[in-house]
Amino acid sequence: MSRKLLFLFLLLFNLSFAQEQLPLIPQPKSTLVGKGSYTITAKTTIHAAKNSFEANYLKELIKTQTGLDLMITSKNSSNSIQLIVKSPDTTVFNKEYYELISSPNKIVITAFSNQGIFYGIQTLSQLISLQKSSEIQVPCVTIVDQPHYAWRGMHLDCARHFFPKEFIKKYIDYLAMYKMNTFHWHLTDDQGWRIEIKKYPKLTEIGAYRNGSMVGHYSDQKFDNNRYGGFYTQDDIKEIVAYANQRHITVVPEIEMPGHAVAALAAYPQYSCTGGPFEVGKIWGVLDDVFCPKDETFTFLENILSEVIDLFPSKYIHIGGDECPKVRWKACTKCQQRMKTENLKDEHELQSYFIQRIEKFVNAKGRKIIGWDEILEGGLAPNAAVMSWRGTEGGIAAAKEKHYVVMSPGSHCYFDHYQGEPKNEPIAFGGYTPVEKVYSFNPTPKELFADEAQYILGAQANLWTEYIETPSHVEYMIFPRMLALSEVVWGTSNPDKFPDFQNRMIQHFAIFDKKGINYSKSIYQITTKVKPSISGNGILFELKSANNSSGIRYTTDGSSPSLSSNLYSNPIEITKGQTLKAALFENDTQKSATIEQRFYWSNAVGKKITLVHSPHEKYNTGGAFTLVDGIIGNRSKFGRDWLGFSGKDLNATIDLGKSETINKVILCVLESQGSWIYFPKKIEVLLSNDGQNFESVAQLNSSQIKEVKGEVVLEVASKKAQYVKVIATNLGKIQEGNPGAGSEAWLFVDEIGVE
Ligand code: ACM
Ligand code: ZN
Repeated sequence: MSRKLLFLFLLLFNLSFAQEQLPLIPQPKSTLVGKGSYTITAKTTIHAAKNSFEANYLKELIKTQTGLDLMITSKNSSNSIQLIVKSPDTTVFNKEYYELISSPNKIVITAFSNQGIFYGIQTLSQLISLQKSSEIQVPCVTIVDQPHYAWRGMHLDCARHFFPKEFIKKYIDYLAMYKMNTFHWHLTDDQGWRIEIKKYPKLTEIGAYRNGSMVGHYSDQKFDNNRYGGFYTQDDIKEIVAYANQRHITVVPEIEMPGHAVAALAAYPQYSCTGGPFEVGKIWGVLDDVFCPKDETFTFLENILSEVIDLFPSKYIHIGGDECPKVRWKACTKCQQRMKTENLKDEHELQSYFIQRIEKFVNAKGRKIIGWDEILEGGLAPNAAVMSWRGTEGGIAAAKEKHYVVMSPGSHCYFDHYQGEPKNEPIAFGGYTPVEKVYSFNPTPKELFADEAQYILGAQANLWTEYIETPSHVEYMIFPRMLALSEVVWGTSNPDKFPDFQNRMIQHFAIFDKKGINYSKSIYQITTKVKPSISGNGILFELKSANNSSGIRYTTDGSSPSLSSNLYSNPIEITKGQTLKAALFENDTQKSATIEQRFYWSNAVGKKITLVHSPHEKYNTGGAFTLVDGIIGNRSKFGRDWLGFSGKDLNATIDLGKSETINKVILCVLESQGSWIYFPKKIEVLLSNDGQNFESVAQLNSSQIKEVKGEVVLEVASKKAQYVKVIATNLGKIQEGNPGAGSEAWLFVDEIGVE
């Protein structure tokens, strides 16, 4: 077989021989491990074209990793690492393609572009040990590789918290290490405007600073009054864009409109509906004041976008488009007039008009817009790409309409969610997205036919920073989850082989340690899972650690676990209210934090439960069973314990297995208005003995639910029944004057107790 054919063969058939031994992430398309190794010494040269950025990058990388300072030469030499850019080949042309062949006497990286060479270098860097030494062995391999998806993105919110230029460069370096190619830079929001615009200096003089921030979780409603802010000058931005460009990363700026605009309106209130005055947002969530779609506002935004487009060479400009409350528009004569003259039937069509008008401007400048999936509402702009975040449905709908899509659903791609047991984690937005969940993501939904699937550009993870104040915390949230995403978008992930991925991933922790990167070791903590017991009597509590589950010890009497406590082997059966504590021990020392789980007990725990409506995929970690698992949802860290319904009711039926005397039914509901989570309108309990005919026995209205702060007890007065139905009626469309007005409310519920 000719060499060219061999490569084609390797690429097409995704061959991988013995590659498990190499801790490469993302896993290359094909890897053949040969015999022996190449030795890099001080005499090794880097052979590349003159002034090659990549050659210098490789030189620096080898110097940092090993201490060896190699010479770069444009002359061929026998003992060298060669970087060869060859002219496009018709059989396999992809500018991100590369081959890496290391043999006993040389290493050759070949590609069709400097970008391909750059990826070859990243792979080589993972093959080179981190040990300082005068002789470095590189195993003999033949790697043929190229990515599946064109958009391999990471987002960073610099509005809620500001991160200095130096850290943005580090962030870009982190993306480069894992062959990510798109940095989505969220630069403007209610709580801060972070990009210098020459024509409108007040955007940063006023809009870049706020006089206080939230302390703790949104649900605590606490604030400080410290002035907070910062912004990037246009020179900073040019420097960052150039830095990213050298590393083959496209920076896509996001300038939010028409919502998330309060920082801009604090500086220029004339572009709002009411005229203000406004102050830069101190509270997280979604604020009601948004840009007013009058002509002056479009001139303002177009002038801003002109400067943005001059600074960022990206094909796409992100214009936001998400979470735009319509209350101001409904009350504004200018908005209502605009709807009349443009023949728009409602405010959603007005939002669509807004986005389409901005799209025309951006297209005229030779660029395209991308926006969050709300831009589908009221009609999608003709050339717009969609970033699907509320789920994958928006992305599916857009692809079916032949629009390009970047998948970024909250369920798998929101890195502001918890990655480990929420109790052990720093405070986060909510949700539960451990690395295994990220690794299981498939950016191309099954619902799409092949001709539609081609519109899926790729996927990206989003890092919103309400609860992330420092660079080191940013690192903690993206590492190691970004490694899982990098393999997903490279197209070589296999959820069935998560243990293999995890094994490779753990080997990268040494790289992070060496580079001083902060990362989450949550996989080593004890993670827990509650399951129905087989007997139907109680529940099973499963404990796990990526480290070594065989060293877990636990207590059930409230005492701290120690080396003499029970050794965990199989899931623990829980049949009464109790507190369980556990920790991992190895070589006589405690290796994990102690976890503590209190189990609540009622007749409902572990019983069969069915739901009429499914919870939203984002907040459905344990399914219906979550409601009878004996664990009461944590109200400030609403990660995995809660089920979230978007616009839908909770309608649950529990089968107690036999007729029981019931005195009361308990339900926990949550409210966090800034996150559009509202108490239900009504909670009703119905009982039945045959599972068919239900009798309504108790109900509470919304003011009664508010009074008890969501810890709802419905008195039933000693009735006998086998089946208990609990209906919590979703608030539905959020009323005017409240956060999220006009959108569907979220209903968050947990544990149903039957006592
Ligand atoms: C978003 O998370 N609001 C796009
Ligand atoms: Zn208006």
